Amino acid sequence: MQLAKPELLKTQNYINGQWRDAASSIEVRDPANGTLLAEIADGSATDAGAAVAAAHTALPAWREKTAAERAAVLKRWHQLIMDNADDLARILTLEQGKPLAEAKGEIAYGASYIEWYAEECRRAYGQTIPTHNPAMRLQTIRQPVGVVTCITPWNFPNAMITRKAAPALAAGCTVVIKPASETPLSALALCQLAEEAGLPAGTINMVVGSDAPAIGRVLTEDERVAKFTFTGSTAVGKILMAQCATGVKKMSMELGGNAPFIVFDDADLDTAVSACVATKMRNAGQTCVSTNRIYVHESVHDEFVEKLRAKVAELQVGHGTDEGVTVGPLIHRRAVERVAQLVQDSVDAGATIELGGDFLPAGENYYAPTVISGVTDDMRIAQEEIFGPLAPVQKFTDEDDVIRRANNTPYGLAAYVMSENIRRANRVVEALEYGMVACNTGVFSTTVAPFGGSKESGIGREGGVEGMAEFYETKYCCFGA
Ligand code: SIN
Repeated sequence: MQLAKPELLKTQNYINGQWRDAASSIEVRDPANGTLLAEIADGSATDAGAAVAAAHTALPAWREKTAAERAAVLKRWHQLIMDNADDLARILTLEQGKPLAEAKGEIAYGASYIEWYAEECRRAYGQTIPTHNPAMRLQTIRQPVGVVTCITPWNFPNAMITRKAAPALAAGCTVVIKPASETPLSALALCQLAEEAGLPAGTINMVVGSDAPAIGRVLTEDERVAKFTFTGSTAVGKILMAQCATGVKKMSMELGGNAPFIVFDDADLDTAVSACVATKMRNAGQTCVSTNRIYVHESVHDEFVEKLRAKVAELQVGHGTDEGVTVGPLIHRRAVERVAQLVQDSVDAGATIELGGDFLPAGENYYAPTVISGVTDDMRIAQEEIFGPLAPVQKFTDEDDVIRRANNTPYGLAAYVMSENIRRANRVVEALEYGMVACNTGVFSTTVAPFGGSKESGIGREGGVEGMAEFYETKYCCFGA
């Protein structure tokens, strides 16, 4: 791999400030063409235990630093990431598949969490509480929760790490991260830059490993761990939550979604179509907040479908490093086959392919950006998280009915509303049972706002002041007479 800074290509685990080998290795391949990119030390549960021990040992010195001292190190880390953004984006595209422009966007987005939390940790104020007894004084102070463990996904191999690790480190916690085995290179490069920034040995540790259940057990059950944070599927999240329960660990869970995208008859259809393509096709649809069910008012349905078809047809599919490419491959063949099966099931049940619906000759992990109409709520495609470049459109006639249909899912991550009527927009935004609702836009993720879901989409928030609060314990201090 050609990099301006070749030291960013790391292939070992990072534990207690040391790069460590393992007995076996994991192959990392370019999902676009199968090219072998690197072989990574396949860490074990024992390595995870060593990483937790290192984080536990490093904790007292790190948490005792002033917020300004921690902020200075984090700001250096942020700067190094930005200085090396081109290399980091290239690594990300090669191992994950997203187009280079999106990868660059992710690097800046990921780094922004580090900068923002470096600033925010200086405002960890407690309170002086008006006392109930003149002889007593009551206060709260905010202290870091302790050792934090993280399991992060392959769809955002950089930003999902910084969104967890930055607030944790800023608060004074130490961290152990298990990145996805598909995309460890972006993760390990972040550790290399953290080391160069001066994060002390043991404050940040990383274990890549193919035995996810065994490593996950250590990260959720070790008694030295105070908090566990996870981004991934609801099914795996439930298993990890049960494991956390044995030690009453604090936890944050960012899980699956089934995002509705509602287009009312008073929407600006060009805005709605652009928003729909942005949420649906970003990262080839492999985003937790990608829209999954597109509900369009019957009076504008045909026009919307035609405009959507035309806009999706403009997308350029190919290798993420090629000029002009806007949609890359999916992460692996299983994902492509699943998407193809969802299309087939829908067509068998009466839906119509308006565009796409094909594998592509470019490679076995590509699937054509696809638009389907005639979808109904009982189809698999409307009930499961698609995680692919597939836009399924349904009709609705009535506001109350579409709200009921949109809420009729165990998930509650993100929802989208398209309407130019401010009263309706407010009403519907408030009625949707989701952690995040975007109105007249398809892109809403930002460092400064809380990201997270309700119902089976998760617990806790990442980003903004809420994301920082997840890593503090509020201690009530009562001083007697
Ligand atoms: C995710 O898919 O979990 C993250 C998406 C985002 O931050 O926008």
